[in-house]
Amino acid sequence: MPDPTSVVIKGGRVVDATGERVADVVVVDGRIAAVGEDLSADRILDATGCIVGPGLVDLHSHLRQPGKEEAETVETGARGAALGGYTAIVAMPNTSPAIDSAGVVREVLELGRTAPCDVFTSGAITVGRAGEQLAPMAEMAELGVRLFTDDGAGVQDNRLMRRAMEYATGLGATLAQHCEDDALCGGGHMHEGEWSARLGIPGQPAEAEELMVMRDIALARLTGCRIHFQHLSTERSVAMVRDAIAAGLPVTAEATPHHFTLTHAECAGYDPVFKVNPPLRTAADVAAVKAGLADGAIGVIATDHAPHAPETKELPFDEAPPGMLGLETALALALTELDLPIQQVLAALSWQPAAVVGIGGTHGVSIAAGQPANLCVIDPEATWTVDGAAMASRSTNTPFQGRELRGKVRHTVLHGEPVVIDGEAQR
Ligand code: DOR
Repeated sequence: MPDPTSVVIKGGRVVDATGERVADVVVVDGRIAAVGEDLSADRILDATGCIVGPGLVDLHSHLRQPGKEEAETVETGARGAALGGYTAIVAMPNTSPAIDSAGVVREVLELGRTAPCDVFTSGAITVGRAGEQLAPMAEMAELGVRLFTDDGAGVQDNRLMRRAMEYATGLGATLAQHCEDDALCGGGHMHEGEWSARLGIPGQPAEAEELMVMRDIALARLTGCRIHFQHLSTERSVAMVRDAIAAGLPVTAEATPHHFTLTHAECAGYDPVFKVNPPLRTAADVAAVKAGLADGAIGVIATDHAPHAPETKELPFDEAPPGMLGLETALALALTELDLPIQQVLAALSWQPAAVVGIGGTHGVSIAAGQPANLCVIDPEATWTVDGAAMASRSTNTPFQGRELRGKVRHTVLHGEPVVIDGEAQR
C-alpha cells in the first residue's frame, strides 16, 4: 500500500547519472514529488554531509530460499540488502530445488513481495543447473525473469551454451555466466599459484575462468546474445572483456568487492572464510579488476553474497563450501578501496546493474520529479567496523571481520518508504 505521508530528504548532495547538485528531495506516494531548495514535508530524513543517490542494485545475491533457510531467507537477505543501500537484488538460482521453472520463480517472487527491498530472481539456464538440458526459460521470462544463469557452476557444454544463447536472444533475455571449466578446476579449492603450492591445497588455474570467458565471447559473436560475465577475477579475463566491448559485442561484466580487495595470500591461515569461487587471486589480478572498474571494462560491482551457516562453513579448508557475505559491506568497500569518483561508484552499484537486468525504469533512475522513489543516503566519511554477528544475515561468514571501512548507509527509501533510517532497519 503506498503511504501518502510525504518525506523530505534534506540537505544532501544528490548524485545520479545526470550529475550532481545540492538539493532536498521530496517523496510522496512512492514517487519523487520535487527536487529543489528549502523543501518541506510531513517527515524529515536528515542528509547533511551525505550523498543522496538512487538505490543500489545487486545482480548476484544468494538468498538460499528455498532449501537452505538456516543460512539465509529472502527476508533476511533483503533486510541486509536494505541496510547495505540496496533497493533491488537479483536472487541466484542455486537453491534446493533450483530456480529452474515457473513454479519456483513464483515462490521466490512471492517470498520477496513483503521484503524491505525489491527481490527479482534469475532463472537457471539448464534443468537443475545440471548442464544437460535447457530449462524452460520462456515460462520464467513470462514471469519477468530477465537474467538466466547456472551460477555456482558454468555451462560446460559448448553446443548447449550456443542453444541457450539463441533461445535467450529470442526472449530478449541476458545470459549470465559463472566462468569455470570443471575439468580444469576439478578438486581445486583456491587459486593455483604460489600460495596453493606453499599451503599444499589443490588449486584452480586462472585459465579455468579464462577459457570460458573466451568461449562465451566467441558464442556472443556467433549468436548476438547478450552475455554478462559474473564475478570476473583474472587479469586476462578483464582484458578479453575490454577487447570484446571495444569490438562492439553485447558483453557486460561484474566484479565483486572481495576480488578487488583480497588476494590468495589471505588463505595462508587455512581459514575457510576466505574460500570462494572464483577464488581470491594474485595482487596483479586485483589490480586488473580495479583497472577494469576504473576504465569501464567492468561496469558492475556485484556482491556474490553467499551466506553459509557456521556449522557448514567452519570446516577444514578443503571441506568447506565456497562463499562470503557481501550485501552489507559492498558499498563501503567500494568507497574505501576504489579510488573512483562517487558518481562512478554509484554507476557500478546502481544504474549500470539496473540496465543489465532491465529494471532501469524503476531502479537506478535519475533523481527527478515523477521518478520512482528508490533511493539511498550515504555518509561517505563515516567509519565503522565490520562485524558479521551484527549483520541482518542469518550467517556471519564475512572475510572483512574487524576491518574498519569508510562510507555508511544512513537511510534507504523503497518505493517512498524509509526502510532504513539512521542505519536501523525499520522492518
Ligand atoms: O563462492 C561462491 N559461493 N561461488 C559461487 O559461485 C556460489 C556461491 C554459493 O552459492 O555459495
